[in-house]
Amino acid sequence: MNNFSKIAISDAHSKLILAGEHAVVYGKPAIAIPFPLKVTSIVEKSNGSIIFESDIYTGFISNMPVKLKGISNCIKETLKHLNKPEENLKIKIISSIPIGRGLGSSAAISISIVRSLFSFFKKRLTENELFSLVQIAENYAHGNSSGLDIMAILSKYPILFEKERGILPIKSKSSLYIVVADTGKTSDTRVAVGNVRKRYNLNPKNMQKSLDKIEEITIEIKKTLLNGNIKLLGKLLTDNHNELINIGVSDKDLNDLVKTALSSNALGAKLTGGGLGGCMIALANSPQHARLISNELIESGASQSWYFSTNEDIVMEVN
Ligand code: PMV
Repeated sequence: MNNFSKIAISDAHSKLILAGEHAVVYGKPAIAIPFPLKVTSIVEKSNGSIIFESDIYTGFISNMPVKLKGISNCIKETLKHLNKPEENLKIKIISSIPIGRGLGSSAAISISIVRSLFSFFKKRLTENELFSLVQIAENYAHGNSSGLDIMAILSKYPILFEKERGILPIKSKSSLYIVVADTGKTSDTRVAVGNVRKRYNLNPKNMQKSLDKIEEITIEIKKTLLNGNIKLLGKLLTDNHNELINIGVSDKDLNDLVKTALSSNALGAKLTGGGLGGCMIALANSPQHARLISNELIESGASQSWYFSTNEDIVMEVN
């Protein structure tokens, strides 16, 4: 009997950070929720060097562009861990998660690849193995990743994450109607995390104040999820955005989209993920309101927009 399968298919979903990005790198709590955009990876036997096939790059893994380097490292380490040679495989990626927009695409791609490689070689994968193999790619993408993206993508539920304590699932009392909009500009999390570190070293007192404020907001947001106070949740999201401006990770495009959402009566809005490009989120009252905000965001320059309800596994796309 072969010690590998004919074909192995695995998937992973995207994530949104509701509160606490960047502060989480400094040991503060963050809250993330699943975002049902998906990536699927398909592993099959082939001949010769490993071939990687995706919308943004097709070719040998040895020639992967710099932005996919973390993923190629993760593939290599996974094969090493499985005691398999770096050859005779084709890894195909089908993804609806835009890359480099703070939606966790790199973690989702790596998670789906590690899962499908283990399944291809008929090996059981523990959560610890998955976490440490994917962390290789994430550390490359983020500089020094908190691990939040991986945990959020592995979870079916909203989570509160702390570097030292791990995750706590949060059972949200009400469904949330969330709008997501893409500035169309790449957000380089590694650069954003590095900038925050530089600012921190230059002015620790001020930065600590902002990080403490973000922590306070995150804890309040957790309470609103548990008690269903959606109006207050919205206000806190906007407060979090303002602190992200203070620590230097927002930009004009993100701020303009936040303003547009708020002038369309969103309950609140903020950037999500690493910032400096990438995506923002807004909280709506209803699916109809979410669609209206999505349309307004596209009108004011967003390259893509989605809306969804947190109690469903489907996403509506507007562009
Ligand atoms: O991958 P992104 O862009 O969603 O950002 C991850 C969140 C950060 O807090 C900015 C970095 C980290 O490692 O937690």
